[in-house]
Amino acid sequence: MRAQHGEARMSELENTRGLIRKLWPKEQAMLRDHLLRLDKESRRLRFAHGVSDAFIEDYAARMADLGAIVFAYMEDGEIRGAAELKKVGDVWGREAETAFSVEKTFHDRGIGTELMGRVIRAARNRGVQILFMSCLAENNRMQTIARKHEAELRFQYGEVVGEIIPEEPNYFSLLAEAVEDRVGFMMTVFDLQRRVVAAA
Ligand SMILES: CC(C)(COP(=O)(O)OP(=O)(O)OC[C@H]1O[C@@H](n2cnc3c(N)ncnc32)[C@H](O)[C@@H]1OP(=O)(O)O)[C@@H](O)C(=O)NCCC(=O)NCCS
Repeated sequence: MRAQHGEARMSELENTRGLIRKLWPKEQAMLRDHLLRLDKESRRLRFAHGVSDAFIEDYAARMADLGAIVFAYMEDGEIRGAAELKKVGDVWGREAETAFSVEKTFHDRGIGTELMGRVIRAARNRGVQILFMSCLAENNRMQTIARKHEAELRFQYGEVVGEIIPEEPNYFSLLAEAVEDRVGFMMTVFDLQRRVVAAA
């Protein structure tokens, strides 16, 4: 799905026309809808077991309360991919958890890889040193992505627990996240305007 002629290029990703940005707390419904669109197999890989619609609805509703950071790949006002960065405990500490989901029709376009880059940097900027990413041993696609980010994977009870050890934060990593937040905001406003005009 490459950018159409004349269409504003909103993505740094080669084969997409969407945008990755942080989700705002009031946008939980969009995360819920994205997770609900995951097919049965993707749900099993994402949550390490099959989950019902009711489970997803409850899970998405709790995201903001948990103070999680969610990076979303957005296209035409819908979330098509998401990466969650969650605290272990009440405050950001040495360890955090992460999880990824990209809808099937959007696979293999580099979205998961880019989302993981954002998560690692956000973790680094919050002083997190170890990121736990639990995925099933058969999940080769996720392991390919983790390897691209030089993750260290260790096997545990039939699952793969990826420990990603980010570097210390620095001026550039903090600045890059802040700039991307601003760009994400501006592009969302432009996109909204574009869709309102198109609908009129
Ligand atoms: C895992 C997931 C997030 C990946 O998203 P994605 O956007 O397709 O990922 P990318 O396109 O960035 O990268 C996929 C990589 O896996 C590779 N790949 C595809 N099929 C593969 C396979 N069977 N075995 C190994 N690697 C494979 C792709 O070639 C690509 O690598 P490349 O960029 O070097 O070519 C997505 O498949 C997903 O949501 N799966 C269901 C939920 C899940 O598994 N979540 C992870 C557990 S938390």
